[in-house]
Amino acid sequence: MKGILLAGGHGTRLRPLTSTGNKHMIPIANEPMLFYGLRHLAAGGISDVGIVLGTVNEGITQAVGDGGAFGLRVQYIRQGEPRGLADALLCARDFLDDEPFLMYLGDNLLQSGVEPFVRRFRDARVDAVIGVTPVSHPGSYGVVEMDGERIVSIVEKPASPRSNLALVGVYLFTPSILPIVRGLRPSRRGELEITDAIWRLHEQGAPIAVQRVDGWWKDTGRPEDLLEANDLVLRTLPAERFVRAGTVADGAELHGHVGLGRGAYVGPEVRLEGPVVVGNDTRLEGRARIGPGTAVGDRCTVRDSALSRAIVMEGSEISGPVELTDSIVGRSATIRARGPGPVRLSCTLGDSTELRL
Ligand code: DAU
Repeated sequence: MKGILLAGGHGTRLRPLTSTGNKHMIPIANEPMLFYGLRHLAAGGISDVGIVLGTVNEGITQAVGDGGAFGLRVQYIRQGEPRGLADALLCARDFLDDEPFLMYLGDNLLQSGVEPFVRRFRDARVDAVIGVTPVSHPGSYGVVEMDGERIVSIVEKPASPRSNLALVGVYLFTPSILPIVRGLRPSRRGELEITDAIWRLHEQGAPIAVQRVDGWWKDTGRPEDLLEANDLVLRTLPAERFVRAGTVADGAELHGHVGLGRGAYVGPEVRLEGPVVVGNDTRLEGRARIGPGTAVGDRCTVRDSALSRAIVMEGSEISGPVELTDSIVGRSATIRARGPGPVRLSCTLGDSTELRL
């Protein structure tokens, strides 16, 4: 079985955070989100992976290379303009070479990975396995209506959803989906929809298994989704992933799961309350407070500021009496607060932005 990992698309809402390239390189718990998909594919026993690239790809090819570091053989497939998930599949057809395959949407994170899907596909001998999970706003997703185990309807982003079951971004297919995809017409939003292809496959009488997702699932299309994904990943990372390198000065307080990168420094009056990860060569100084659900990237400085449920990307500086919560700070950005404070702030700050308070 082959794997295709989609890393193209528009990424419009995350663009301020992507000056170095593609939105799939935005860090979740200090690791590019794309790496989670690569690891899931490897853990699911898939070794040949095609990464579908869009128009902005800087960072991906350099970071992933031939995939060897993930135990994978990676090839790159150029889609260019995002014409839809089914179009991405068409671009990958030479790579797929008439084999069954798993398609993983690069902006999706799943606690339980893809193994349960692969097992179901092998055991159930079906033409497709699709994943679903209940959500509170189904209209933002592909929606599957079921009657027991029977599929009643599958509709992409319906105005009036007929169920709360959202399609998650993991799909397994036999090559029988390809002729259907070739016959698709663009949807109202101008894309070739994989959801339409799955519905047609079902209408043709092909067996499709619907897999309910265990554990959490997150589509990271919006800044608030990134924060939630960061929090979920940090809360569910195994304890051994919180490695403590770096230097911790006497007097510093570290509680719960705290990961510290190489060359990181924690000053004597600093307090960290996990789950928290801190990158390489990052300095936490003065009376800095780092609270749960926070990831501070490499080469950052936090001085006298309090952070909780935040993503701070590499090379950024936050100093002075700021209380930053539910916030994303892009790469090489600066927040400097003066005065007695404290200033309470909740924001998404783009790469290389300066904020003086
Ligand atoms: O996340 C689950 C949802 O993903 C499903 O519920 C929907 O049925 C499915 O259509 C999809 O909806 P989105 O609107 O969230 O898709 P998005 O445009 O965000 O693209 C998903 C991923 O695929 C993202 O990593 C970018 C990549 N992509 C997207 C398009 C449209 C490509 O590589 N090429 C493309 O042409």
